[in-house]
Amino acid sequence: MSSIDVPLKSGRFPTAKFGQTQRKDKWWLEPLLVFLGYALFIVYANYAIINYNCGDRYCFEVPGTSYLSPMFSPLLTREVPTWWPSFAPFFGTMLILWAPLGFRFTCYYYRGAYYKAWWADPISCAVGEPRKSYWGERKWPLLIQNAHRYFLYFAILFIFILAYDAWKGLWFDGPNGPGTQFGIGVGSLVMIVNPILLGMYTFGCHSFRHLVGGRKDVLSTSPVRKSCYDCVSGLNRKHMLWAWISMFYVGFVDLYIRLCAMHIWTDWRIL
Ligand code: FES
Repeated sequence: MSSIDVPLKSGRFPTAKFGQTQRKDKWWLEPLLVFLGYALFIVYANYAIINYNCGDRYCFEVPGTSYLSPMFSPLLTREVPTWWPSFAPFFGTMLILWAPLGFRFTCYYYRGAYYKAWWADPISCAVGEPRKSYWGERKWPLLIQNAHRYFLYFAILFIFILAYDAWKGLWFDGPNGPGTQFGIGVGSLVMIVNPILLGMYTFGCHSFRHLVGGRKDVLSTSPVRKSCYDCVSGLNRKHMLWAWISMFYVGFVDLYIRLCAMHIWTDWRIL
């Protein structure tokens, strides 16, 4: 078996300066793309949330349909609750977005990606770090990372809620009133794809994998559990891919409904 000698510096942490490395590849490209990708989504999500009311409380529901942006679902309230402090701005989506955002923020893949891209901790393997100590995840605010499995339960619930929204997106205003006429618009298809992609991401979660079979010592004696575990493992292998696709797709669904509501795009009826 061949081997190579890798010279190690003494001490617990490398002594290289920040960004210093002997790597010759484009190690900076991935953290840069991750940084830009997250920044793009965060900017758009903030724009979408802040423009929630935009002068018309129904602006995210295309007239004649029941399309509801996934960033605002479930729509718990359109009004400012009486208990909300008057000095703080209120957006209805604040009441629900903590769950999917918490799920993504604590995701094992996301952690690895944004620790590198946003905190440079470390910025990449074998590249000098900006600090010489290891902070770990045993203190606040990073202690929240341990709640990932609990955010998972909410994320699964959201898939059902968004699937219900997609079902409602198949019902249009008809002669018998709003939402009484079955039909299919391009927006209906756009909405149906959303919970599917979110499911591919959520059901490939490491915590879900543990839940369905990982915690068992012997899986082969439980064939159903073993099959579920294999399915989850298959999704888990592409977890990064589903994480990115599902995140941007949520933004796209919001954009689609927004532009239709603003009469910039037309929602073509297929049926
Ligand atoms: S590890 Fe990524 S969603 Fe759970």
